[in-house]
Amino acid sequence: MGNFLDGKVIAVTGAGRGIGRAVALACAAEGAKVVVNDYGVSIEGGEPTSQIAEAAVEEIAAAGGEAVAVADDVSTMAGGRRIVDTAVERFGRLDGVVCVAGILRERMLFNMSEEEWDLVVATHLKGTFTVFRAASAVMRRQRSGTLIGFTSGNHQGSVAQANYASAKGGIISLVRSAALGLHKYGVTANCVAPVARTRMSANVPMELKEIGEPEDVAALVVYLLSERAREEKITGQVYTIAGPKIAVWAQPRELRAGYAEGAWTPEKIADFLPGTVGTDPMPLLAQLEAMAQAAATHQRPNA
Ligand SMILES: NC(=O)c1ccc[n+]([C@@H]2O[C@H](COP(=O)([O-])OP(=O)(O)OC[C@H]3O[C@@H](n4cnc5c(N)ncnc54)[C@H](O)[C@@H]3O)[C@@H](O)[C@H]2O)c1
Repeated sequence: MGNFLDGKVIAVTGAGRGIGRAVALACAAEGAKVVVNDYGVSIEGGEPTSQIAEAAVEEIAAAGGEAVAVADDVSTMAGGRRIVDTAVERFGRLDGVVCVAGILRERMLFNMSEEEWDLVVATHLKGTFTVFRAASAVMRRQRSGTLIGFTSGNHQGSVAQANYASAKGGIISLVRSAALGLHKYGVTANCVAPVARTRMSANVPMELKEIGEPEDVAALVVYLLSERAREEKITGQVYTIAGPKIAVWAQPRELRAGYAEGAWTPEKIADFLPGTVGTDPMPLLAQLEAMAQAAATHQRPNA
């Protein structure tokens, strides 16, 4: 056991499996008392069971750590509140929350149902809000705390997961809003975009070139929750961790601007925009086109 998080109280959502479980175990191993939340659902979000959260708590206890299970659904306000209330009632404070819970409902946009949209956005985006909302009230009073959201490289866009990509983009904006809004109360907020072997990544249709284990992601989360990261004033950041790689994502900013003389008209914009302001090509679109080209070459006989 290390002591990176000695005396801290950390709540982790989706902590029964995959990355969340590794985060909860690592937090406990580093000296934190942990609230283990998991609704215990299938990858699509069905068949809830409390056994998944309880099993992770037992694992932590067997390793000599201290944890409590909350098997609520994070997409409800009551669920988010119960996770935070449990930390405060059981352990007396709350130093960090890590919102890892997530599901997938993959479908092309033109076939996506309202339910597929709503469930995915509710679990990821609202499920981060419900916990951040309750936790930030406690942390504001404490004048300290760390909020961590989970996004994905897919926030750049996704062919068949518009629901997931939208939720993950929203989580980045939520994290940056929390970083701004809570800065003066000593609360930091950051986002992690992981790539790790779990049941969820096993579902990704293309091969991932850079991938690691949930334990790699857990090490980054422990650091972000620690005083070492707080001393560095790390807030409003998005980090990818994929096996041996750690990367920081750029802040969104205007790339290029031009100014009109007089009022804009569509005609003026048509003459001005392409040459002066232009576009910022999508890396994923280029990748998609390259893949389509490679597939076409591969299929062509004698190519
Ligand atoms: N694995 C990767 O490579 C990868 C890549 C990008 C992003 N992510 C993100 O990392 C996070 C963890 O992913 P994972 O691969 O460990 O997935 P996972 O499916 O192994 O674990 C997700 C956990 O969340 C729980 N959960 C689902 N809905 C819930 C709800 N409403 N309330 C509480 N718990 C709920 C599930 O029961 C499950 O135990 C997700 O947010 C995912 O989108 C993962």
